[in-house]
Amino acid sequence: MKILLTSSSRHGSTDEVGAVIARELRLAGHDVEQARPEDVDDVTDYDAFVLGSAVYMTRWTPEAIDFTQRFSQELHSHPVWAFSVGLSGLPKGKISDPHRIGPVLLSIEPEDHATFAGRFAPAELSLRERSIARMGGASEGDFRDFDAVRAWAGSITAALADG
Ligand SMILES: Cc1cc2nc3c(=O)[nH]c(=O)nc-3n(C[C@H](O)[C@H](O)[C@H](O)COP(=O)(O)O)c2cc1C
Repeated sequence: MKILLTSSSRHGSTDEVGAVIARELRLAGHDVEQARPEDVDDVTDYDAFVLGSAVYMTRWTPEAIDFTQRFSQELHSHPVWAFSVGLSGLPKGKISDPHRIGPVLLSIEPEDHATFAGRFAPAELSLRERSIARMGGASEGDFRDFDAVRAWAGSITAALADG
């Protein structure tokens, strides 16, 4: 199947999660293109979609939300999986719960939505970003669990194989 995987990232950690998912899907024989949502202007060629975004201030990025609005018709007529990368759910980093991302997810009705822990590297952030994240209780570190990411990609390939 030809699959479009979009990842919307400010500081790279969501792109890397997306790349791991894309690699797993390719290993299962799919033809996968990974792109930034704002760089996509035509989705007619794809059989399925995997949409991912970093979570900032309890929301997907504006670019990721815009993609779901621009292509809502195509997304409704094809299988869609969604993933969010954030720090919620971590011991000290419960900034938001995934339901806060709800409106965009409800609008695309994905087969499944996964939330993965991300990375908080204060040194790479602006002062403003750093203080917002700290106010939200974020702990410094890279919390990405690539085994969990690969396992989720495996659930997509299994679902696609089942038709
Ligand atoms: C300013 C700021 C706001 C954030 N807000 C949230 C949030 O509301 N919920 C959450 O789970 N994570 C939040 N995070 C954590 C990011 O989602 C996490 O660092 C993620 O890995 C960033 O992805 P990126 O590197 O692809 O941009 C925030 C981080 C920053 C710097």
